[in-house]
Amino acid sequence: MSAAPNTHWRMGGITVDEVEDYVYNLLPPRDLVLAEMESEAAKNNVPIVGPAVGRVLEQLALIADARTVFELGSAIGYSTIWWARAVGEGGRVYYTDSDRKNADRARHYFDQAGVADRITILTGDALELLSEEKQQFDIIFNDVDKEDYPRVLRLAVPRLRRGGLFVTDNVLWSGRVAQNTPPDASTKAIQEFNRLLYQTPELMTTILPLRDGVAVALKR
Ligand SMILES: C[S@@+](CC[C@H](N)C(=O)[O-])C[C@H]1O[C@@H](n2cnc3c(N)ncnc32)[C@H](O)[C@@H]1O
Repeated sequence: MSAAPNTHWRMGGITVDEVEDYVYNLLPPRDLVLAEMESEAAKNNVPIVGPAVGRVLEQLALIADARTVFELGSAIGYSTIWWARAVGEGGRVYYTDSDRKNADRARHYFDQAGVADRITILTGDALELLSEEKQQFDIIFNDVDKEDYPRVLRLAVPRLRRGGLFVTDNVLWSGRVAQNTPPDASTKAIQEFNRLLYQTPELMTTILPLRDGVAVALKR
C-alpha cells in the first residue's frame, strides 16, 4: 500500500500551501508499515501527526537520548512507532488511548513494525494513566482532546525528568488560536495551554509552526 498523497497532510492557516507542499515533497518515502498506516488514516479520517511531524518526534528523542516516552492519545499507534524506533532496543514507549479498537489496530501495526516488545499498551483515560505512573519520563507527548490540554500540562511537568521534553501537537489549531473571533472551547483551552507553556518557569518552550503547530518544552 502506498502512503497518503503529500497534499493530504496540508493543514492550511499556518504556512502557505506551496511552502507546506514543498516541505512534504522533500520527505523520503516511509517503510511499508508507516505507509499503510498513513493510507488507513487518510481513508478513515484518523488524525495522525503525519510524516513531517513524525520525523520531528524521532529527531527530538534522538537529540534528548530518550529511553522512556509516555504518549497521551495514540490512536492507531502511528506516532508511537516513530517514538519506538527512536528509543531503540531496551527503550520503552507507553501507548495510551481510550478506544480499545484503536489499541487493537495499533497492536497489529507494532507487531508488523517489529517494535511490540518496547511498547506498553494502556487503554483508558490517558490523564489518569499518567497520574498512576510513579516514574519520571524522558519525553511526554500530548495529543489528547484539546480541552484537556491545560490539565495535561499540570500533570506532565512533575512526571518529566529535568532535561526532559514535553511535546504537544496541534498547538496552532489551523490558525484558530490567532483569530479575533470568540474562541470555541477547544481553541480557548489551547490558548490557555500555550500561555501556560510560555509562563511556567520550569519550562523553556518553542512552538514549531509545522503542520498544525508542535510545541517543544524543555524542563529546566
Ligand atoms: C489526534 S489522535 C492521536 C494521534 C496519534 N498521536 C498519532 O499521531 O498517530 C487522538 C487520540 O486520542 C484519544 N484520546 C483523546 N482524549 C483521550 C483521553 N483523555 N484519554 C485517552 N485517549 C484519548 C482519541 O481516542 C484519539 O484516538
